[in-house]
Formats: sequence, structure tokens, C-alpha cells
Amino acid sequence: MARPKITIVGAGNVGATVAQRLAEKNYYDVALVDIVDGVPQGKALDLSQAGPICGYDSHLAGATSFDVSDGSAVVVITSGVPRRPGMSRDELLTTNATIIQGVVNEVAKRSPDAILVMVTNPLDAMAYVAHRVSGFPKRRVLGMAGVLDSARFRAFIAAELNVSVENVQAMVLGGHGDTMVPLIRYTTVAGRPIDEWLPKERLDALVKRTREGGAEIVNLLKSGSAYYAPSAAVVEMVEAILKDEKKILPCAVRCDGEYGIQGLFVGVPVKLGRGGAEEIIEYRLTADERAALMTSAAAVKELCEAVDRLTAGT
Ligand SMILES: NC(=O)c1ccc[n+]([C@@H]2O[C@H](COP(=O)([O-])OP(=O)(O)OC[C@H]3O[C@@H](n4cnc5c(N)ncnc54)[C@H](O)[C@@H]3O)[C@@H](O)[C@H]2O)c1
Repeated sequence: MARPKITIVGAGNVGATVAQRLAEKNYYDVALVDIVDGVPQGKALDLSQAGPICGYDSHLAGATSFDVSDGSAVVVITSGVPRRPGMSRDELLTTNATIIQGVVNEVAKRSPDAILVMVTNPLDAMAYVAHRVSGFPKRRVLGMAGVLDSARFRAFIAAELNVSVENVQAMVLGGHGDTMVPLIRYTTVAGRPIDEWLPKERLDALVKRTREGGAEIVNLLKSGSAYYAPSAAVVEMVEAILKDEKKILPCAVRCDGEYGIQGLFVGVPVKLGRGGAEEIIEYRLTADERAALMTSAAAVKELCEAVDRLTAGT
């Protein structure tokens, strides 16, 4: 049986690292597509030459043409531009929404049964655009953010308590931005609630650091943003889908009434399997948690309305 094919659009930091992580699984074939001629071809060739050393036979192909993506089971979309000095949020939104429209048009006609995993920021708005442009059922369009935000929170907690990251369970919901909602009541270390491990001030500090986790890395790197943890998060989602794991992870999916959210892509717990986002799991939330999630959803709504306004007629 042929290996499942995964296309990664955008062979930059996140895309190329996703390609490397997937190739090393020795279970998938990987196609890399980028607009800059030579980059996807060069990175795919370099990665294939690591195969004999790392012990994988994964087939890697790179191209500027989307033909290489034909028949993909999953398409991971990382193409976009970062915000440059002097560029407004609206300009970034318009530029990336235009890129996503073009890319999704191409991949949707070549891989009509694919599951789309969106990565490009602003994440929740780009997932909304991808869903609209592809015409795919909503369970086949997902955004990666919650797995990354939860991993950051888990890493900070593990370091604070000097315990294994494997003991720490956490779920960060909401939009991928300042309004994200770490669910403290559902955060546990070896099954014990986090508030029995840490005083409120320390927990608040870790929540703040999680919210600002992306910016902390941007400030350290000076150019570019995080990609090791983001690529690991993408791969966890892709594997949960293609191995039909039924794993529950926080993902940006379209809510139509769940959690009281209407017609928006927001991070919620989702069961992932071969069908994509097979089920949204509704946790019982307190009034405060629900209010925080609604505030986050309102921020996402504003972005989606801006996308509709800015891309009208394109
Ligand atoms: N959702 C998350 O949690 C998360 C985490 C990290 C990064 N991101 C986002 O992912 C995106 C990629 O980040 P990165 O660090 O890899 O950036 P990068 O600049 O290294 O890579 C982006 C790539 O996209 C390519 N590209 C641009 N337009 C294209 C087009 N029309 N078709 C094909 N390729 C095109 C560029 O040439 C570049 O190689 C950014 O929007 C970033 O903000 C999101």
C-alpha cells in the first residue's frame, strides 16, 4: 500500500521542520511547495539525502508547482509573510488572506479529499478563509495553535515543579493570541490539580508567560518566529489524523453552537481521526471560563470580519 502523502505549503522555518519531522517517521511521503524557486527543491533533496543516515525511505519532492501535491491525504499550510516594520495588522491580514486563498484554491482541486491543517497567522482567521475557499466540510479544515500553546504551558509547569513534561496535562482553548484561555481547572500534574501544586501568583505568572510565549521567542530570535515546537505540534495533529488515533487535542475548528460560538474557527478540544475533526468535546465551563472564551471568540470574529471586508472582491 502506498504511503500517505502529505503536502506542506511554505518551505520556510515551520514548513521545512514539519517536513523533516514527518520524513523521520518513515511512514509518509512528503511534498514541499514554495513560491521561491529552488527552496522547496533544495530542501527536499537535502532531506532525502539524510534518509540513509537517519534510516528512512520517505519520498520527498519539492516544487513551485502545486502538481506535486496531487492526491495528498493531508495538506499543511504554512505559507505567508510575517509582519514587517511599518506594516499594519490589516495589511498583514490582507496579504496572508490573499496568499491562503490562492494556495487553498490550488490544493483543493488537486486533493479534493484532503484534510487541511492551517498554520499561517493570524491562525483562526486563515482557517476561516481556508474553509470558505476550499468548500470542504468543516471537519476537514483545522488550525494548529492549541497544541502549541498547551505545550508551552506544560513545559513551563514541568520546569517550575521539576517534574517530567509527561506528567503535565493542560488544555489551552480560544483564539491563538493574547486572549487564549488556559483552563486551569483542567490542568493536572500526575492527575493532581495544578492549584494543589502551585500558589496562585506563580500560576498566574506561568499563564502570562504562555500567553506571551510566541513573542518571547520572536524577541530572542530577532528575526523570524518559533518553529521547533510549532512543527512538533503540527506533526502530533497529522499523526492523530492519519493513524486514526481518536486523540483529543485543542485545535481551531469551526464551531456552530458548540461552547455558544457561532460560525467561527476557535480553539476547542477536538477528537482527531481519519475523518479529521471528528467531534468537538464540550467541557463544562465556569461562568468566568465561558466569559474568557467568549472574549477570545469576539477577537476572532473581529479578525474574520476584517478579512471579509479587506478581501471583498479579490
Ligand atoms: N499557528 C501557530 O501556532 C504558528 C506557529 C508558528 C508560526 N506560525 C505562522 O506560520 C507561518 C510560517 O512561519 P515560518 O516561520 O515558517 O515563516 P517563513 O517566512 O520561514 O516561511 C514562510 C514561507 O512561505 C512561503 N510563501 C509565501 N507565499 C507563498 C505562496 N503564495 N505559495 C507558497 N509559498 C509561499 C515563503 O516563501 C516562505 O518560504 C507564519 O504565518 C507564522 O506566523 C503559526
